[in-house]
Amino acid sequence: MTAPAGRRGGPLRAARVPALLLAVTLAGLLAPLPARAGGETLFPDVGTQRLQVRTYDVRLDYAPSTNRVEADVVVRARTGKRLKTFALDFEGPTVTEVLVDGEEATHSREGSSLRVRPRPPVQPGRFVVRVSYEGRPPEHTDPDGSTEGWVRTSDGAVALGQPVGAMTWLPSNNTPGDKARFVFRVTVPGTHQVAANGELVGTATSTRGTTWTWRQDEPMSTYLAMVAIGRFDVTEQTMRSIDGRRLPLWSFEDTEVGEADDAIALTPQVISWLERKVGPYPFSSAGLVSDDAYVGYALETQTRPFYPPGAASPALVVHEVAHQWFGNSVTLTDWHDIWLNEGFATYAEWMWSGRSGGLTPRQHFDRLYSRAPSSDLWSPAPTEFTDPADLFGEPVYLRGAMTLQALRERIGSKDFFRLLRRWHAKHEHGSAETRDLVRLAEKVSGRDLGRLFRDWLRTDGRPSGY
Ligand code: TRP
Ligand code: ZN
Repeated sequence: MTAPAGRRGGPLRAARVPALLLAVTLAGLLAPLPARAGGETLFPDVGTQRLQVRTYDVRLDYAPSTNRVEADVVVRARTGKRLKTFALDFEGPTVTEVLVDGEEATHSREGSSLRVRPRPPVQPGRFVVRVSYEGRPPEHTDPDGSTEGWVRTSDGAVALGQPVGAMTWLPSNNTPGDKARFVFRVTVPGTHQVAANGELVGTATSTRGTTWTWRQDEPMSTYLAMVAIGRFDVTEQTMRSIDGRRLPLWSFEDTEVGEADDAIALTPQVISWLERKVGPYPFSSAGLVSDDAYVGYALETQTRPFYPPGAASPALVVHEVAHQWFGNSVTLTDWHDIWLNEGFATYAEWMWSGRSGGLTPRQHFDRLYSRAPSSDLWSPAPTEFTDPADLFGEPVYLRGAMTLQALRERIGSKDFFRLLRRWHAKHEHGSAETRDLVRLAEKVSGRDLGRLFRDWLRTDGRPSGY
């Protein structure tokens, strides 16, 4: 489902492509393909469209006392091209060996790229890369100053990857459009526990410690991959999904921090509520992780959101659970579309608050709409930022959610909820872009919505007349 290069020339963006860029693009068509055609446009040095990953098989041994990792990551991928060289994204410690289809390959590091030169070249079709590394994975600091990647806690570490931090520990095609299946086999001392995405397959004890095996069988973007190692209280629950599946929930609460019991109890209730609004929960398990990584944000890590100490409020639980449909199952390919994640998750918070005696979505909208025209809420417009520091800004979250309220009032609640259900059903476990949403909204409602989406998503300043 990876978008073709040049997707930004779509209807929502065409007006922004300057002539010089067009000339450069045309010149690019005549030149040989660059070794690395970026995965998407906000982080052009990260990810590639020259290969697609099918599975990541992560074997990782961890020593909490030193934060050292010894790991092999097997990447099963395919390519439509013959590759004399290719790059994975990796910012981790020392790479000790790279094998391609079982043969040793030469490799070098440049920035966050791990360049691999297989011998012989990879032929079109499937191929397998095995990267071995050892040392201490780093944290990654984002343009907005926040921390992600391999984040240390008091008794271990948690790996958080939005937008690009997964490459601190996972050699990967680290772009959101390349979704893959994952297996994690993480070995830690018997005193510690390991959470990751998907289902717990089992634990096994040997002289090296305890190996926790987790499997994420539904496709997942690298930014949603999570491993948490520490001393946890583990809570197991089960629930029934709206389509009759038995869903196990595993929740990991740091033994010292605690505080997440209410969030653990609320999670299945929010899942059931959203299932009635949007359709069946898209994954085969759920739960949460609450740990003392002071990153200043929660994260919708697939199946098992992460909450830092004190953060797991009901509103945030609703937000992170809503992301399982909006962002994790239906995933953006370009970070400029992040309002598709954050606007929808924020809108879910507004719906929840309305039904629990707080402000309704319309009241949230009105409060925000009364903000001064000079407010940062109105600029840059949600899809129009160019600085990655604006990824998690108010225009994305709040103006993004306001866009949905404006849409709902335009097409009516009945069509609005039909749209939410069809949006998820159509793109479940896939990827989608803003223009796909515009098209579907027009189809469901039978109206021309170009103006509304242009006003709300692309035009700087407060939209007038709403
Ligand atoms: N996507 C996260 C959420 O909405 C928030 C988030 C991730 C974030 N990284 C961030 C917020 C960095 C601010 C800064 O749940
Ligand atoms: Zn969010």
